[in-house]
Amino acid sequence: MVVEETVGRLRITESILEGRELHVRFNLRRGLVISVFEGLSIQVRYAEFLGIAGPVGCGKTTLLKVLAGLLKPERGEVYYKNQRLEKPTPAISLVLPTTTLFPWYTVLENVMLALYSDKSLTREDKIERCRAFLDMVGLSAFDSAYPSELSDGMKKKVILARALVTHPDVLLLDEPFDNIDPLAAVALRSEIENMWMNESMSPSSVVLVSHDIEELVELCDRVVVLTERPARVKEVVEINLQRPRDKRRREFYDYVDKIFTLLS
Ligand SMILES: Nc1ncnc2c1ncn2[C@@H]1O[C@H](COP(=O)(O)OP(=O)(O)OP(=O)(O)O)[C@@H](O)[C@H]1O
Ligand SMILES: [Mg+2]
Repeated sequence: MVVEETVGRLRITESILEGRELHVRFNLRRGLVISVFEGLSIQVRYAEFLGIAGPVGCGKTTLLKVLAGLLKPERGEVYYKNQRLEKPTPAISLVLPTTTLFPWYTVLENVMLALYSDKSLTREDKIERCRAFLDMVGLSAFDSAYPSELSDGMKKKVILARALVTHPDVLLLDEPFDNIDPLAAVALRSEIENMWMNESMSPSSVVLVSHDIEELVELCDRVVVLTERPARVKEVVEINLQRPRDKRRREFYDYVDKIFTLLS
């Protein structure tokens, strides 16, 4: 395993999840073809927080779907721990902006759905584990509430608990802090960072797609900046700042400026 040291943390440079030479096209009606990737490669390393930034419609959500095994590329492969990924696995959790809760199930039942096909756990084990995750996101008192009784920020926390309850190695997040109030977003960001920093807990690696450059600089070890469609990797920016990151520091804004310039 290749290890390098940056700002006091050891960093493993080997990939846990990798997209190699991905080609993705969508065939629309009337013969229109949208080419999203023509040979895009991306590496997510062990124990890293990776950011993805890029213009609107360049293929960020599509890329997460491919990396989760939900969308098969026309050419190219996805490798998870050096094994070809052919279909979705509980080891890779994906949260999309469209991910919702089932309104007719309680909060606890919604989280338990993620463990539905896990035959190794009894119903009691599942309840216990789900309660522990709801507790972790601060919602233990709401396990019997229905989604309609929660605020938007609380719903996002339940969705996050559901994504984490399977103990995934990789958590793929597509604009998870959009459409929630700024204070709830601050709390949720630090929740995710703390979980990821805690080495005894999953996930090992987080991939965050965001349009918010400050958010990317605050959380990520590296930020992959994509070009317009067909998306290529324009640059990978390494963020060498101590955690927790201080937004008032000049170096913080140097990174924000750098990524902003790459995107404009
Ligand atoms: N299922 C689909 N069928 C047809 N075209 C699609 C499909 N999914 C995505 N596309 C097209 O692929 C391109 C990339 O879409 P994608 O949602 O991945 O972009 P994005 O980078 O996530 O955009 P945004 O920043 O707006 O979230 C867009 O042009 C979109 O219209
Ligand atoms: Mg998107």
